Amino acid sequence: VMPDRITIYEVGPRDGLQNEKTILSTDVKAQFVRRLVATGLQTIETTSFVPAAWVPQMGDAPQLLEQLGELGRGADRPVLVPNERGLDAALAAGVGAVAVFGSATETFAQKNLNRSVEESLRMFAPVVERAKAAGLWVRAYVSMCFGDPWEGAVPIDQVVTVCEAMLALGADQLCLGDTIGTGTPGHVVRLLDALGEKGIAPATLGVHFHDTYGQALANTLAALAKGVRTVDASAGGLGGCPYAKSATGNLATEDLVWACRGLGIETGVDLTELVATSVWMAGQLGRPSPSRVVRALGDS
Ligand code: HMG
Ligand code: MG
Repeated sequence: VMPDRITIYEVGPRDGLQNEKTILSTDVKAQFVRRLVATGLQTIETTSFVPAAWVPQMGDAPQLLEQLGELGRGADRPVLVPNERGLDAALAAGVGAVAVFGSATETFAQKNLNRSVEESLRMFAPVVERAKAAGLWVRAYVSMCFGDPWEGAVPIDQVVTVCEAMLALGADQLCLGDTIGTGTPGHVVRLLDALGEKGIAPATLGVHFHDTYGQALANTLAALAKGVRTVDASAGGLGGCPYAKSATGNLATEDLVWACRGLGIETGVDLTELVATSVWMAGQLGRPSPSRVVRALGDS
């Protein structure tokens, strides 16, 4: 049964921009967030507190939050933090929500976090504990839940084990990442069923599909039919991961909103404003939006 409304978890300013070669000014990023807020999007992941040497585009996280002021704070403006150093900086910037990000596979844990899955869990544990103690909302991502560029298809029981461990850290929400976009709707259903058997209900989950193989919307609809109510998307379909080259853009927020409109699912988003925002951002980045809906509805 499809829901009456869903929560879109907008990752454009973070996942959308993190892999872009053109380094945008903090001003442009702040304007992006403001424009996204104005479209009606409620949950927006704004940036990452990671070393600039690892992700240059996110190197201005404190300055961006300073510019955003109240608009960058609150439980619906999460930022990525991998470790306590990142948490300290995020707390100093006044954030109200953070996300840690683990991996279902050893190879991606090494490439993205420079440590094993087990060592990453040990790195996240004090981050989640301290964030909860400070009253923050906490999300735990698990990447490579479907396929991994180095290890191939990832066994469902391996994914479930990591998901249980990440949730056990004390996060409010678990987010299933299809980092390289190889997942298909049947695989999504099998993973959600396997998580359900371990007591991890769809209401606890977010889903995060990259659209590399054109499956992101189909996968999202399969997850909604199973009871998931939080869906990640990126304005204009921007996105990718610098540490997994085969990762391309996220599900475009416009594609999601268009489909929801047809299904009578409320998103609270003004599609015209959103398309205009993505057309503007495409101009800033110097390349057209990969979203089919943006191309169909946009002026450029
Ligand atoms: P490391 O090199 O092992 O870290 O990296 P370290 O603790 O040895 O520190 C190295 C240096 O960085 C030190 O400085 C630290 O102080 C500094 P130095 O002494 O050399 O001058 N440092 C920091 N500086 C600023 N902020 C910090 C921080 N931490 C240490 N937070 C680390 C380990 C986790 C830091 C690194 O691997 C990292 O940053 N990884 C993150 C990579 C990343 O952001 N990837 C993209 C996001 S994940 C994603 O996109 C997937 C997702 O979308 C879901 C999906 O699609 O599946 C979420
Ligand atoms: Mg991602």
